[in-house]
Amino acid sequence: MSDTSRRPRKPYRRPQKDPVRILAFEALRAVDERDAYANLVLPPLLRKAREKEGPDTFDGRDAALATELVYGTLRRQGTYDAVIAACVDRPLKDVDPPVLDVLSLGAHQLLGTRIPTHAAVSASVELARVVLGDGRAKFVNAVLRKVAQHDLDGWLEQIAPPYDEDPEDHLAVVHSHPRWVVSALWDSLGGGRAGIEDLLEADNERPEVTLVARPGRATTEELLREEAAVAGRWSPYAVRLTEGGEPGAIDAVRDGRAGVQDEGSQLVALALANAPLEGPDEKWLDGCAGPGGKAALLGALAAERGAFLLASEKQPHRAGLVARALDGNPGPYQVIAADGTRPPWRPGSFDRVLMDVPCTGLGALRRRPEARWRRRPEDLEGFAPLQRGLLRSALEAVRVGGVVGYATCSPHLAETRAVVADLLKQFPQTELVDARPLFPGVPALGDGPDVQLWPHLHGTDAMYLAVIRRTG
Ligand SMILES: C[S@@+](CC[C@H](N)C(=O)[O-])C[C@H]1O[C@@H](n2cnc3c(N)ncnc32)[C@H](O)[C@@H]1O
Repeated sequence: MSDTSRRPRKPYRRPQKDPVRILAFEALRAVDERDAYANLVLPPLLRKAREKEGPDTFDGRDAALATELVYGTLRRQGTYDAVIAACVDRPLKDVDPPVLDVLSLGAHQLLGTRIPTHAAVSASVELARVVLGDGRAKFVNAVLRKVAQHDLDGWLEQIAPPYDEDPEDHLAVVHSHPRWVVSALWDSLGGGRAGIEDLLEADNERPEVTLVARPGRATTEELLREEAAVAGRWSPYAVRLTEGGEPGAIDAVRDGRAGVQDEGSQLVALALANAPLEGPDEKWLDGCAGPGGKAALLGALAAERGAFLLASEKQPHRAGLVARALDGNPGPYQVIAADGTRPPWRPGSFDRVLMDVPCTGLGALRRRPEARWRRRPEDLEGFAPLQRGLLRSALEAVRVGGVVGYATCSPHLAETRAVVADLLKQFPQTELVDARPLFPGVPALGDGPDVQLWPHLHGTDAMYLAVIRRTG
């Protein structure tokens, strides 16, 4: 064959390194491979990128884009998996996980952001060339070109079963939640299609950063001076940072006089502190205190009333975080590391007890984008005895006439009402207090007597609270 018949070879071009996409890919790999939490892996990766590239090359906008790409890809992973599955010629389990991560990141840029199609494809192919090699970059290019043939709505029409045929599967694919989670949330929420759709979409939104001005230590006025800060919706101590920002750079937060705390958590602590009580109101217990958000608010409220707070946490390192959160509390308190199911305190010795028990966290899916894919229905069985043991211990710890708040950041009925109902049977000399008046001004609190907050109705995590009084 003569030389003239040969096609001229394209000169080799080095792949373009885009620090934002490389960082997002590394974060997804860490979440996939090491079961890491996105909110924990991202900050050090962002710091490293800023140091390596310099603040002019990797600025705040790059950090925001990288964060959005990671969170968005993880939240919508179920939907993107279904789209990618429709574009490859083999089962997804046979696609190498790093390749799948690049594809998911590309699918998110194409279907979940305003990045133009050609830019989303070419940025993904360049990323693939850097992290996977030229051969696999061709595969990425071919798959993403198919993904780009429809927008998200177009894909959903193809891949989601019709609502009338299978409502839960439809919602699971369209709103990117595992089916069992859709089912559990719907059981707890009740109602028809509109409510559950609003809830699932709220789970896919990035929550605002909310601060708490710990009473007696900071004021909301002080926090409202921050950029784009507005008052909370329900808690008198809440301030919302509508444009995010860096709470760690705020003086009051650095000093521990204020903290980052979802308004739902603030409301739960406030409700327990304000539950009506006859007789002394001097000794308060937080039996599951780590990392200390509610304990710090309870400590400040207790100080205003001259009450003492014991903050107890099983894990010693988390008890250390509680100590840090309470440091500087103006009233008396103590932090201990103790197993709440085998407590060192005497029965009947507290006037108010909060048990904010370990749970599946299905009420905080907005914050932990990977959690919904990691949780399994079997996890509920693991938590059930611990949740019952801790509530039993709380009911023993409180004096006759005192109140217990049983709280979870999960709305799953197996972790909320089922636990409370079981323990009320075992402790006949107790009564459920109507908790709704303890949430003044908060609408849509249901039929009571317990309270379930919801992201789509209240803009908070889906915190649950039952208030129980010991009557004998
Ligand atoms: C939902 S978190 C509490 C959150 C905390 N109230 C706050 O607002 O920051 C549950 C805590 O209970 C702790 N825990 C788990 N088992 C426990 C036990 N047997 N006794 C006491 N604490 C326990 C966990 O380590 C975890 O820190």
